[in-house]
Amino acid sequence: MARGSWATRTGFILAAAGSAVGLGNIWGFPTRVGQGGGAAFVAIYLGCILLICLPIMVGEFAIGRRTQLSPVRSFALLRPGTRWWVVGAVGVLAGGGILSFYCVIAGWTVAYAWFALTGRLAGEQLAAGAFFADFTSNGAASVGLALLVLVATAGVLLGGVRGGIERVTKAMMPVLVALLVLLAARAATLPGAAEGLAYYLRPDPSSLLDASVYNAALGQAFFSLSLGMGTMLTYGSYLSRQTGIAGAALWIVLLDTAIALLAGFIIFPAGFSLSGFDPGSSGPGLIFAVLPRLFATLPGGGLFGTAFFVLLALAALTSAISLMEVPVAHFIDAHGWSRTRAVITVTLGVFALAIPSALGNGAVPLLTSVPGVGMDFLTLMATAWNDFALPVGGFLTAVFIGWAWRVDRALEELVREQAWFPAPRAWGFLVRWVCPAAIGAIIVWTFASFI
Ligand code: PFF
Repeated sequence: MARGSWATRTGFILAAAGSAVGLGNIWGFPTRVGQGGGAAFVAIYLGCILLICLPIMVGEFAIGRRTQLSPVRSFALLRPGTRWWVVGAVGVLAGGGILSFYCVIAGWTVAYAWFALTGRLAGEQLAAGAFFADFTSNGAASVGLALLVLVATAGVLLGGVRGGIERVTKAMMPVLVALLVLLAARAATLPGAAEGLAYYLRPDPSSLLDASVYNAALGQAFFSLSLGMGTMLTYGSYLSRQTGIAGAALWIVLLDTAIALLAGFIIFPAGFSLSGFDPGSSGPGLIFAVLPRLFATLPGGGLFGTAFFVLLALAALTSAISLMEVPVAHFIDAHGWSRTRAVITVTLGVFALAIPSALGNGAVPLLTSVPGVGMDFLTLMATAWNDFALPVGGFLTAVFIGWAWRVDRALEELVREQAWFPAPRAWGFLVRWVCPAAIGAIIVWTFASFI
C-alpha cells in the first residue's frame, strides 16, 4: 500500500469498519461483559462510546486528514519541536503489542472453522466444555496458528491489495450481520434464555460503583473502535479533503456497536441455557465454549459453525491488517524503510511476542498462579494494552486536540468543503474537557482501588 487515498467514501467507511469490527466485538465484548458483571458493563460501555470514543474518533480522522502522515510524524508536524510525537510512538508499540495476542485468538477461530467443518464440534466431544481447554493446552498448535495469521496479514500488507480487502469486507459484513441476527433469534428461543437476557440487560447497581468495571468498559470501547493508538489517524491520512468525517465516524461507530451488542444477544441466552454456566469464570474461552453448543442445536449446525468461524477469522484479519499497518507505516514514513523490510521486521517482532501468549494459556501457566494477578500472559497483554495503553493514548490525543493543536484549528479541518458537521461546539467541549477528565478520572480511580 503506497500512500494514497481511498477510492470512495464507502471504501473508506468499510475499511475503517473492517478495522473496528473484529474479535473485539464477538470475542472481547461478551467476555468482558461476563467478567464485568453483565448489564452494568454494557451501560457504562455505551456511555464511553458516545461521550468519549466518538469525539476522539472524529479527532483522529481530522489529524490524519490534515497531515496525510503516519502518527509519529503527524504529531511532530502539527506541534514541531515538542515531545507530542511520543503519543504516536506509543501507538506504534501498541500496534505490535495488541497484534501479538490478537493473532493467537484469530488462530483459534481458524482452527474452530476447521473443527466445525470436519464435525469435531458436534456431540460428546463438547461435554463439559473441556474441548477448548484441551485444544489450547496444545501450545505448539496455538503458536503455529498465530504464525499462520501473521503471515496472512503480512501477505496482504506486502501485496498491497487494498482493492481485495475492500471487496472482501464489503461482501463479508452483510453476511456476518445476517448470521449474527439468525443466531441471536435461535439463542432467544432456548430454555433458560430469559435468565441470560436479564443478566445482559438488567444492571446490577453494585457493579456501577466498581472502578474496574469502568476501566474495562473504557478499554473495551477504545479497543473495539481501534482508537487511541493512531490506527484511525493512519486511515484518516488516506482520506481526501472531499470526504466528510462526521458522517463516516457515525456509521463506523453504529456498525461496530451494533455488532458487539448482537454478539451479547447470542452468547448470554445461549450460555445460560447450559447447565452450570458461569459467565464470569470462562475468560478468553467464553465464545469457544458456548458457540459450538449453540450450533449443535441447529439443523446443519456444522455448516453454520463453519460459516461463522470463517467470517470471524476474516473479520479478525481486516483488524489485524490495520494493527500491523501502524508500525509498518511508521517505519516507512519516519525511517525510510522499504515496505517489505518494514513488514518482515514487524512480523518477526510480533511473532516473538506472540509465543508466550500462545503457550501461556495451557502449557506454561506463567501468571495464572501469581496470587492477586491470576492472569495468563494473554490476559495480561490484553489488559495492559487495552485497558491502559489505549485509554492513555486517547487521553493524550484529546489533550493534544483540545489544548495543543486547538479546537478551532481542528474544526477548520472538519468543516472544510462545507462538510456536514453537527454540533461543533459540543464536539469541542467533549474533546477539550469531557474526554480528558473522564479518562483521567477512570484511570486514577482504577489505580487508587488497586492500592
Ligand atoms: N477493533 C478491533 C476489534 O475490535 O477486534 C481490534 C483493533 C484493531 C484494535 C486495530 C486496535 C486497532 F488499532
